[in-house]
Amino acid sequence: MDRVESSTAGVQVKEQSPGLLSQDAVQKLIQQAQAAKQQAYCPYSRFRVGAALLTLDNRVITGCNVENACYNLGVCAERNAIAKAVSEGCRSFKAIAIASDLQEQFISPCGGCRQFIREFGSDWDVYLSKPDGSYLKMSVDELLPVSFGPEELSMKKVLDIPNEY
Ligand code: THU
Repeated sequence: MDRVESSTAGVQVKEQSPGLLSQDAVQKLIQQAQAAKQQAYCPYSRFRVGAALLTLDNRVITGCNVENACYNLGVCAERNAIAKAVSEGCRSFKAIAIASDLQEQFISPCGGCRQFIREFGSDWDVYLSKPDGSYLKMSVDELLPVSFGPEELSMKKVLDIPNEY
């Protein structure tokens, strides 16, 4: 897990490992999540969330939360972005940045979104941000440890299940 302060609070320059996003690329992704947040449709919660998903082939696909008068039908920003990406043929991702209006807290993805993100691998990065651009970087595996994923469905099972199941 990496925590980086905003430029206004003094940038903490981190060592660059190969394959990781540059500070610039991260800030840009966060800005795209913040821009997506502007489109949030959240008349009920008034809690805006934006997400920006970076695909393996360097496309950025964004999403915002979309609520509904039938409250339980609302869609989170992260899930919206992932569904958009998959419907456009992208299933491999490098990172997702999440933005909200919470000043004091890094926006943390809900449990359902963690599982949705995990569907596409445990070894990619989630940037939880604040409006000032500071962020916390966590891997999918850190956000959802000991997770259940598509691999489990193809593992060895007990097959003598009684008929009533
Ligand atoms: N929300 C998201 O879009 N992503 C999250 O990870 C947390 C919650 C949205 C759902 C709802 O529209 C609003 O925030 C309040 O819960």
